[in-house]
Amino acid sequence: MFNLKTILVTGCAGFIGSNFTKQFRKKFPKTKIIGIDDLSTGRRDALEHSVIFHQGSILNEALLEKIFSKHKPEYVFHFAALPRVSYSVEHPRHTSEVNIIGTVALLEASKNHRVKRFIYSSSSSVYGGAKKMPTKESENFPDPKSPYAVQKYIGEPFCKVFSELFGLDTVCLRYFNVFGPGQYGDSPYSTIVSAWLESLYFPKKKKAFIEGDGSQSRDFCYVDNVVAANILAMQSKRKFKGDSMNIAHGSQTKINDVKKLIEKFTGKKLELEKRPPRLGDVKHTRADIAKAKRLIGYKPRANFEDGLKETIVWFESRKI
Ligand SMILES: NC(=O)c1ccc[n+]([C@@H]2O[C@H](COP(=O)([O-])OP(=O)(O)OC[C@H]3O[C@@H](n4cnc5c(N)ncnc54)[C@H](O)[C@@H]3O)[C@@H](O)[C@H]2O)c1
Repeated sequence: MFNLKTILVTGCAGFIGSNFTKQFRKKFPKTKIIGIDDLSTGRRDALEHSVIFHQGSILNEALLEKIFSKHKPEYVFHFAALPRVSYSVEHPRHTSEVNIIGTVALLEASKNHRVKRFIYSSSSSVYGGAKKMPTKESENFPDPKSPYAVQKYIGEPFCKVFSELFGLDTVCLRYFNVFGPGQYGDSPYSTIVSAWLESLYFPKKKKAFIEGDGSQSRDFCYVDNVVAANILAMQSKRKFKGDSMNIAHGSQTKINDVKKLIEKFTGKKLELEKRPPRLGDVKHTRADIAKAKRLIGYKPRANFEDGLKETIVWFESRKI
């Protein structure tokens, strides 16, 4: 049904981008996948081997022009970003350049080169905490609480404006707490799933920690669900014109249960340093995913437990 020649994937060496390219390749063996990543946090060893890779920044206009005019991608999947909240608090200007100007640069190149659809990785952080649960797009107006969340949010109206002004079709996917293979746990900004597994399989001097009493809960979304949502968003016959939708599992897992499940599936005891609750941390998150179901036929396939098992298999197979 889909005779796809070429796609462009930004951030193809990162956690979600590398999972995406690997699964996309299996589904579309003949499509050319062009990738761009400056390897600032991404890893060369995570690249899917058939990706035509350009190492460089999405802020490099000449490089973007070269890539778009040479390869003429039909769809652009925009994963590249500096996606860490605390880093954005320390470096609001630099992260704004990459996360806002980088997105606008890609929108402009996509418009100039007549891309069919621009698929933007947005974030649940745009909501600024769970107001109504499950969190529905129409009932929760964005209220970003960090430079990163502002930057991710700004990308959404930019997508809309490019659709309205220039007819470039765009769609914004708001991911909730993504985890899975390829997410390393050794950065101060890792999610608890990867940070805790890292401490079990690659113990360092610093102990893993738990904040508060562990009764908080999160809507954890296995990375395969995010990959599937991106492919569905590409395949849809609709015109999205910058519309935004939640991509999550649509259920909650308590932090204490994450610990119990990790211990059950690995057979190892997780020693955690207790820390006070993080200031301003939201207690619970859970997304309403009805809109994504309705618009793109999104249905999460992997639940938290299945995703966790797959993630553990990856940690067990990792050499470094
Ligand atoms: N992981 C999550 O839970 C989550 C949740 C919501 C939204 N998102 C969004 O999904 C996208 C992917 O996130 P991720 O978890 O894979 O992050 P990641 O850090 O693993 O991947 C981002 C990639 O972008 C690359 N990059 C950074 N700056 C660049 C630049 N100037 N030019 C080219 N490449 C650059 C990095 O090297 C890295 O490979 C991001 O846009 C993020 O905001 C992620």
